[in-house]
Amino acid sequence: MKPLVIGGSNGEHLAIELSQLMGFELVSVEIKKFPDGETYVRILGEVSGRDVVYINSLQRSPNESLIETLLTLDALRDLGATRLIAVIPYMSYARQDSRFNPGEAISVQTIAKLFKSMRLDHLVTVDMHLHRITDPSSLFGANFHNITGVRELAKYIKRNYSVENTVVIGPDEEAEQWAKIMAEDLGGLEYGVLKKTRLTAEKVAVVAEGLNVQGKNVIIVDDIISTGGTIVEAVNTLKNLGAREIYVTTVHPLLIGNAYAKLLRLNLRDLVGTNSVLSPISKVSIAPAIGEKIMEILRL
Ligand code: R5P
Repeated sequence: MKPLVIGGSNGEHLAIELSQLMGFELVSVEIKKFPDGETYVRILGEVSGRDVVYINSLQRSPNESLIETLLTLDALRDLGATRLIAVIPYMSYARQDSRFNPGEAISVQTIAKLFKSMRLDHLVTVDMHLHRITDPSSLFGANFHNITGVRELAKYIKRNYSVENTVVIGPDEEAEQWAKIMAEDLGGLEYGVLKKTRLTAEKVAVVAEGLNVQGKNVIIVDDIISTGGTIVEAVNTLKNLGAREIYVTTVHPLLIGNAYAKLLRLNLRDLVGTNSVLSPISKVSIAPAIGEKIMEILRL
């Protein structure tokens, strides 16, 4: 039997798409606030004895989203869901994965403990920041699947543009994995990365070493655009090196503060993100990639 699908406040659009795309049965959830600000959750359907897929991205208000997600998952377990699959397209707190300064909390470890206590069967994330996490399944206490949204971004580029005379660039060394996928999916383009040093939460410095983009079009691909600081520096550096048209693509367009305006000022050929997080640039859906993974997990 196909699973039930439930979307949280930041995942309802994906739950609806999955129900339309894959034929999963959509169940609603009521979310409201008690007068004192506490979150109230009520599942509006019978979940006992059914496989359940719950989707929510932990963004906009990451702390609010986290509490809503935990309350919902715990209720679903308690109400007798058979297999419980949480899909967290954007997992917040993942970037604080080390004690960069003395005394800091290693946030991702704490968040993982909370998810572990939900006794999930599977946890699916999309391009989660896993740079220093070696065994996510044991950390989160569930079968862990990190899928990529970059293939969906590459399909969008392929559908809309010619990629002649084009190179793919990751704005930092960690982005090489995404640049590689994008370059391969676009027919074996050249790819490379910039070197980034983070100066403050909003400011970075990037340098290009050994990259030749003179007279070429460039597709930049990164997992997250948060304040936009990384992309602004990357685009300016590539323009100074003689790049022609620049396309910016990202999986998670958080676009915090005035990031969108900063990016619009760059005169990009296109600026595109997925709907892992809803934003003005969410032109690509990750629902097909999520649906495929769920079918594989449930072996439907
Ligand atoms: C960093 O590791 C990520 O891959 C992104 O490059 C980063 O989160 C982007 O942040 P911002 O837009 O604030 O520069």
